[in-house]
Amino acid sequence: MNIYFQKSFQRSFGTYPLKGDTLRQALDAAIGAGYRAFDTAQMYGNEAETGAALAACGVAREDLCITTKVHPDNYSEETFLPSVEASLKALQIDRVDVLLLHWPPVGGDVAPSLRLLQSARDRGLADTIGVSNYTARMMHVARTVVDGPLVTNQVEFHPLVDQRKLLAAASETGIPLSSYASIARGEVFKHGLFAEIGQTYGKSSAQVVLRWILQKGVPLNTMSTKPENIRTNFDIMDFMLSSIDMERIDALNATGYRIVKPGQLPWAPEWD
Ligand SMILES: NC(=O)c1ccc[n+]([C@@H]2O[C@H](COP(=O)([O-])OP(=O)(O)OC[C@H]3O[C@@H](n4cnc5c(N)ncnc54)[C@H](OP(=O)(O)O)[C@@H]3O)[C@@H](O)[C@H]2O)c1
Repeated sequence: MNIYFQKSFQRSFGTYPLKGDTLRQALDAAIGAGYRAFDTAQMYGNEAETGAALAACGVAREDLCITTKVHPDNYSEETFLPSVEASLKALQIDRVDVLLLHWPPVGGDVAPSLRLLQSARDRGLADTIGVSNYTARMMHVARTVVDGPLVTNQVEFHPLVDQRKLLAAASETGIPLSSYASIARGEVFKHGLFAEIGQTYGKSSAQVVLRWILQKGVPLNTMSTKPENIRTNFDIMDFMLSSIDMERIDALNATGYRIVKPGQLPWAPEWD
């Protein structure tokens, strides 16, 4: 089974942009709340602190799912594998559960970095591999370049952005999506619909949003520094949104709100 669809790994705790005491306290709270999947990246500059916290957290390594992502600056023959080895050392692990390409390369020719990613898996540095911030076209190319499964395309996914093209590409390619910016960094709270629906189920707006994402078949990444929010975001498995409520939320994708705007980062592609 796809690692992110295992029940204990469907809800990942994201670590961006946390560092130092804030990161340690958030990771402690997340472990205590029940999170067993954790998301970091070379770009976040917190792999060593994340690795140290997870090594000391008291949960057996095989019960954790650790994801890290290769920085696009490391997409060359000379730097790719050494950068992954440096990530493993920082994380205090022999192999990472999921290794992602963080962004498509500038220019959009995804094949060379995908081959490097596959070589990291083939050498045993990663159990599974995937991508992030890929367009539908790139997902189709990836499917033809890589042998074996790509376990995710981690993308901005929340009710205010229309990701139907990516969901279709996920079905066509067998590369499932997973979410980041799942509550659009708080932008969702400007829409009263989530609180209104939440009243029916005795759940908060954030819980309704996260449950909608899971019911779309999309595993989650969430981040919070507050123990109360960390617990709330995890506590979403004991209710089910009706198809009518799912459709009411679907209608908000006309909002067209994105956290990552086109051109905001050098690697951001022309979004679908
Ligand atoms: N692949 C990529 O390119 C990429 C890009 C961005 C992020 N990510 C990953 O995805 C993770 C999550 O995304 P994100 O942090 O950007 O966005 P997010 O989860 O949408 O938003 C995080 C923000 O929402 C607030 N929040 C969280 N839960 C809340 C709740 N229940 N009620 C009210 N406020 C709440 C947090 O503030 P408080 O601390 O005050 O709770 C925090 O400031 C990141 O940490 C990172 O690991 C990946």
